[in-house]
Amino acid sequence: MKHSKKEAFPSQLGISLVTGGAGFIGSHVVDKLIENGTKVKVLDNLSAGSLLNLSDHKNNKNFHFVKKDLNDSESLKETLKDVKTVFHIAADPEVKTGFENPQISYKENIENTFYLLEQIRKSDVETILFTSSSTVYGEPDTIPTPESYGPLIPISPYGASKLACEALISSYCHTYGLKGQIFRLANVIGSRSNHGVIWDFLNKLRVDNKKLEVLGNGKQSKSYLHVNDCVDCFFFCLTINKRQLEIFNVGNEDRVDVISIAKLVCKTMNLKDVDLVTTGGVDNGRGWIGDVKKMHLDISKLKKLGWRPKLSSVESVKIASQEIFNEQLVKIIGN
Ligand SMILES: NC(=O)c1ccc[n+]([C@@H]2O[C@H](COP(=O)([O-])OP(=O)(O)OC[C@H]3O[C@@H](n4cnc5c(N)ncnc54)[C@H](O)[C@@H]3O)[C@@H](O)[C@H]2O)c1
Repeated sequence: MKHSKKEAFPSQLGISLVTGGAGFIGSHVVDKLIENGTKVKVLDNLSAGSLLNLSDHKNNKNFHFVKKDLNDSESLKETLKDVKTVFHIAADPEVKTGFENPQISYKENIENTFYLLEQIRKSDVETILFTSSSTVYGEPDTIPTPESYGPLIPISPYGASKLACEALISSYCHTYGLKGQIFRLANVIGSRSNHGVIWDFLNKLRVDNKKLEVLGNGKQSKSYLHVNDCVDCFFFCLTINKRQLEIFNVGNEDRVDVISIAKLVCKTMNLKDVDLVTTGGVDNGRGWIGDVKKMHLDISKLKKLGWRPKLSSVESVKIASQEIFNEQLVKIIGN
């Protein structure tokens, strides 16, 4: 799927920096910036991202890649020269591993965001966009959950790290005159995805196409968003937002449970009669410690402003399964 040129794009972005721009979501942001003639710098340590995601741009004069870690303040300072807009996307995005290694979320997400903000406040950057997560809500009583819901009680180190980053960004916006946009994302899926439930199922089915292990009780029910909708939403918000700091839920109006996703993935692979085996999981059906069983963001705020996703959760799952399946196949054949 290509981004449509007719979609909203801000006129005064200036040179943009995308941290984590070689990763799944980040590389789609880079595509859209380049497509619209914006000068883009990407800072990525390639720990999870790949230059293959950016190969279309390697000869583009508007594209500049910096292979550095966010914890390298000198490189950050240098890279931020002349930058007006920062898309802060680099992070450790894994919720699952937080239980065993909480220091990863702390260092990769909280500390690195602090290092970045420290350099931003000494630079000419005007706007920061941040990819936060639905996990900041923990297990809210109100579903669908609006941005105004509180108190926020994350149940995973990852969710806690995202909430801490939001707080840091808010404080820097209000103290140093920066403008901020925080996006609390549902599960984002689609082409170039390198983790998550669909990616996981496809990999497992390639090893054993008769049986599929499903973490938890399979009834965990969440909303999904196609990466193209996610990225369009970022640029839409940049065209309308004038406040110091805005928080947006970015998700979908329907939910899908894990068993339904397993069945859709089997269908993508043309597999029939696969035995879906639930592990039971922890704490009455969670896939892992810190897994939120029911996640559904209220997106009325964005809808009132004029944005809504083009694809539902179910449509996104179907399309993303096919996209990731095709990409995995190309990799296998390529090897
Ligand atoms: N994918 C989702 O469903 C989802 C949902 C909610 C929020 N998010 C957030 O969106 C962002 C992007 O997620 P993604 O799924 O594209 O993940 P990803 O792993 O594909 O992208 C992260 C990128 O950041 C880079 N990176 C990581 N640590 C770095 C460091 N210290 N210095 C420089 N680069 C570094 C990685 O190499 C990778 O290219 C993350 O902040 C994640 O927490 C993702």
